[in-house]
Amino acid sequence: MIQLVRGFRDILPGEAMVWQQVEQAARDRFECFGFSEIRTPVIEQTALFKRSIGEDTDIVEKEMYTFPGSKDTLLTLRPEATASVVRAYIQHKLYAADPVRKLYSIGPMFRRERPQKGRYRQFSQINAEVFGIESPYMDAQLIYMLTRFLDALDVPGLRVHLNSLGCPECRNGYRDALRAVFSGKTDRLCSDCVRRIDRNPLRLLDCKVPGCREVAADAPSMADFLCADCDAHFKTVTAGLDAMGVAYERDPRLVRGLDYYTRTTFEIQTDALGAQSAVAGGGRYDGLVEQLGGPSVPAVGFAIGMDRLVELVMAAQPVLLRPPAVFFAAMGAEAWKRAFQWAGELSDQGIRVEIDFSERSLKALMRRADRLGAQFVLIVGERELEEKTVSLRHMATKAQTAVPVDNLVAVVKEKIWESGV
Ligand code: HAM
Repeated sequence: MIQLVRGFRDILPGEAMVWQQVEQAARDRFECFGFSEIRTPVIEQTALFKRSIGEDTDIVEKEMYTFPGSKDTLLTLRPEATASVVRAYIQHKLYAADPVRKLYSIGPMFRRERPQKGRYRQFSQINAEVFGIESPYMDAQLIYMLTRFLDALDVPGLRVHLNSLGCPECRNGYRDALRAVFSGKTDRLCSDCVRRIDRNPLRLLDCKVPGCREVAADAPSMADFLCADCDAHFKTVTAGLDAMGVAYERDPRLVRGLDYYTRTTFEIQTDALGAQSAVAGGGRYDGLVEQLGGPSVPAVGFAIGMDRLVELVMAAQPVLLRPPAVFFAAMGAEAWKRAFQWAGELSDQGIRVEIDFSERSLKALMRRADRLGAQFVLIVGERELEEKTVSLRHMATKAQTAVPVDNLVAVVKEKIWESGV
C-alpha cells in the first residue's frame, strides 16, 4: 500500500472539525479588530524568501522546497506567509489610499525540517499582519488579540515570551558585543554558528545545539543595548499589556528564526508539546516593506501554528463528531427512494441527515443510528408507506410519533426545533 510521505499528515474528520472551529474563532476575533482576509499562493519566487527571511537562517539554508521555474527563476513552496503578504501589499499597492492595512490569512506552509511530534514538513498557520502603524500600542493590541483568542480556546499552560531586538542602529552595537563573546569560543560552537559569527551573530542565540546554548547563556542581553527610542517603544508595549492584564515574561534570548524583525518580538510557548515549545510567534518588521521594494511602511504581525494549537485543544477536550439530527432507517427500494427525497429536503433546511441504503433489519439499523448518536430516527418501511405515516423516534426519550408522509418535512423540522437540537 502506498503510504503518506514522512513529515506530512492527514487531518482526519474528528480533528478536522476542531480545525474548523479554531479557524472560525480566529476569523471572528480578528475581524473584531479590523482584519480582513488575504489569500496568497503557496509558490513564490525563491528570491522573495531569501531576501526577507535572510540567507543565514536555517529556513533559507536548509529547509526550503525549491525547484526550477521557467527560464532562470527558482521557485519555492512558501515556508511562511509574511513575505508573501508583504509582496502582495507592495504589488497591489494596498498602501495607496491608506497605508494602514490589517490582513490575516490561513493556510499551509512547507519546511524540510526533521519531522518529530509537533514538527511537520507541511503545517498550517493562521497569520496576522498589520501595516502602517508604528505605535507600540499596536504591538500590545496584537498580543492582546492573540492571547484572548487562545484563552477562549481553553488551552492551559500557555506563556507569552517578550523581547525587543531594537532597530538596525542599536542592534549593531549588540552584534559587535556578541561577536566579541563568541569569537573567543569557537571551539565550543557548532559549525553553523562558527560560520554565522561574522554575518549574523544573533542566530547563535537561537541555536539548539547544547554547546552553543551554554555559550549563549553568558552572552550579553539586548535590553542593555536598546537606544532611547527603542527602549521607550518597548516600555509602552509592556505598559499596554499591563493595562490589559496580559501576563508575559521578558525573554532576552528570544531572537526568532527569521531575520526581518525589529523591536518587539514575542512567542507563545508551552511545555505540553515536548521539544516544540512555540505555538505562535511574531514581532515587528519595520524595514521589510521597503527592503522588498515598497514604500517605507512599518509593520508587525504573528503566526499561530495550527497543528500544534489543535493538538493542545484536543488534549484539553474530547472531540466528538457532530451526529446526524435525523437518521433514516429505510427498508426496501420504495422506502429508499422516498427517504432519499426527504433527506434532500431536510438538508435544504439545514438539518443534518443520514440514510442507510444497505439491506439490513430494523434492529441493525437502529443499532447503527445509536452508534452515530442520531437524535431522531425516521422508520420508513413498505407498511409505513402504504399507511402514509412513518414513525419518528426520539432516541434519548424513546418516544415515538406517527408523522403523516404528506407533511413530513415540516413536522420533522418542528419536532427537531422543539427538542432543541
Ligand atoms: P515562525 O516562528 O517560523 O514565524 O512560525 C510560527 C509558528 O508556526 C510557530 O510558532 C509554530 O507554532 C509553527 N511552526 C513553524 N514551523 C513548524 C513546523 N515545522 N511544524 C509545525 N508547526 C510549525 C513565522 O513563520 C513568521 N512568519 C511569523 C510572523 C508573522 N512574524 C510576523 N508576522
